[in-house]
Amino acid sequence: MMEIDGRVLNTGLLLVATILVAKLISAFIVPKSRKRVPPVMKGWPVIGGLVRFLKGPIFMLREEYPKLGSVFTLKLFHKNITFLIGPEVSAHFFKAPETDLSQQEVYQFNVPTFGPGVVFDVDYSVRQEQFRFFTEALRVNKLKGYVNQMVAEAEDYFSKWGPSGEVDLKYELEHLIILTASRCLLGREVRDKLFDDVSALFHDLDNGMLPISVLFPYLPIPAHKRRDQARKKLAEIFASIITSRKNSNKSEDDMLQCFIDSKYKDGRSTTEAEVTGLLIAALFAGQHTSSITSTWTGAYLLCNNKYLSAVQEEQKMLMEKHGDRVDHDVLAEMDVLYRCIKEALRLHPPLIMLLRSSHSDFSVTTREGKEYDIPKGHIIATSPAFANRLSHIFKDPDRYDPDRFSVGREEDKVAGAFSYISFGGGRHGCLGEPFAYLQIKAIWTHLLRNFELELVSPFPEIDWNAMVVGVKGKVMVRYKRREPSVNQ
Ligand code: HEM
Repeated sequence: MMEIDGRVLNTGLLLVATILVAKLISAFIVPKSRKRVPPVMKGWPVIGGLVRFLKGPIFMLREEYPKLGSVFTLKLFHKNITFLIGPEVSAHFFKAPETDLSQQEVYQFNVPTFGPGVVFDVDYSVRQEQFRFFTEALRVNKLKGYVNQMVAEAEDYFSKWGPSGEVDLKYELEHLIILTASRCLLGREVRDKLFDDVSALFHDLDNGMLPISVLFPYLPIPAHKRRDQARKKLAEIFASIITSRKNSNKSEDDMLQCFIDSKYKDGRSTTEAEVTGLLIAALFAGQHTSSITSTWTGAYLLCNNKYLSAVQEEQKMLMEKHGDRVDHDVLAEMDVLYRCIKEALRLHPPLIMLLRSSHSDFSVTTREGKEYDIPKGHIIATSPAFANRLSHIFKDPDRYDPDRFSVGREEDKVAGAFSYISFGGGRHGCLGEPFAYLQIKAIWTHLLRNFELELVSPFPEIDWNAMVVGVKGKVMVRYKRREPSVNQ
C-alpha cells in the first residue's frame, strides 16, 4: 500500500514538475515565438474593408492610425494588406531584398501598358539590368544635356503667352511637360514630327490605366482595348525610328538613344520592343508626377509671399552672378526653390501608396516598443501621403514650411532614413528624382524671371480619385510679362 502511495506521490510530483517546467518554457520561450500579429481593422472582413478602402486609403489611414498605431492589417477579399507607417517601422519595406519583399506581383497591372519583356514582366535579375539602363540614362553628364532641352522648351512654350492674360496653370504645365518629356526622353523625331500622333497614343495608354485595371488589367473593356491598340502602334512607331537611327548611324542626346545603346551583362543589345517598353515606363514614372508637382509648387508660392519673395530674391542673386545663363549647374545652386518644391511634394506626393508582396516572415518594432510579426503572404503597404505628415516627424505637418528642410532643422533627416518618402527610398528609390527637380526648377526659373503671377482661383483641392493623385479642377493664374530690363 505504502509502495503504491509512494508511486502515486512520485507520479504526482513528476506531473507537477512537468507542468511547472512547461509553464516556465511557455513563459520564457513560447511568447518569443508566438505570433504577435498586427491588429486587424474592425468591420466585416470583405465588404467593410472594401468600402473603407474605396472611400479612399488616406481617409482610412487617418481613422485607423490613431486607434491601431503604425502597424495594422486590412482584410480585403482573401488578401491581408499590412500597413507600415513611419520611419520606425518601414525600414524593412524599403531595404528588404526582392526575395523577401517583391514588387513584381503588386505592380503586375503595369504589364499591358509597358508591354512584354520589360520591368514587371521580367525576372528580377533582368529588371535590375533594365533599371541600370535607367540609371545610366539619368547620369549627370546626360542630365546636363536634358537641362538645355528643358530650358529651350520652356522658353519656346512661354513665348506664346501674350503680354498679359489668364491661364489654367495646371493645363499649361501639363502640356509643357509632355513636350519636354518628348524631347528629352522620346527623342527629336517624336518631338519634331510625330508629337500629335504619339501624344494621342500616350493619352489612350493613360486612359487605359484605371483603378479597376489594378485588379483586372486584362478585363475586356473599351479603355483596355484602346490601350492595347495604342501600345501596338507605339511599338511600330518606335521600331521604325530605331531602325532609321541605326541605319543612318546617327546618335542623339536623349533617353531613347541611351536605351538603344544599352547592353545586358551577357553582351546582348536591347530589342526594339524593350526600348519602347522602357520609354513608356519612363514616361509613366515621370510625366504626371512632375507636372502635378510643378502645379502644387506654383499654387503654394503664389499663396505665400514670404517664399515667393525668397525664390525671386534667389533668382536675382543668381542672375547677378551668372547673367541669363540657365543650365544644370545654375539650377543646382537654387536651394530655396529646391526646398519650396520639396515641401510641395511632401504635402502632395503623387504616388500615395507604395506596395510590396512579402515572401518571408518578418518583425517590426514600433516606436512605442511593440513588436509585431508579419507573416509571409501579406501585401505590405506604406503611404507617402500619410507618412509625410506625421506630427512627430514634421512640426505643424499640414503647414507649407520649406524652411523645415534648412540646415539646423532638417526635419526629413532627424528622425532617420525614410521620414520623407515622396520619392520612395532604399532599394527601389526613384531613379528620376534629379531629372524631376531639374525640370520643375527650369520651368519655375523661367516663370519667376519673366512673369508677375497671381493665383485668381481658390487654392486647389486634391484629386484623390486619380491614379496619380494630383490637383482637382483648374488653377487659374493671371500673368503679366515683366519688362525685359527686370531680367538684367
Ligand atoms: C516628382 C516626380 C516624381 C515622383 C514623386 C516619383 C516618385 C517615385 C516613387 C515614390 C518611386 C518608388 C516606387 C516604389 O517604391 O514602389 C519611384 C520609382 C521610380 N521612378 Fe520616380 N518619381 C518622379 C519622377 C520620375 C522621373 C522623372 C523618372 C524618370 C525619368 C522616374 C523614374 C523612376 C523609376 C525608374 C523608378 C523605379 C525604381 C526602382 O524600382 O528601382 N521617376 N518614383
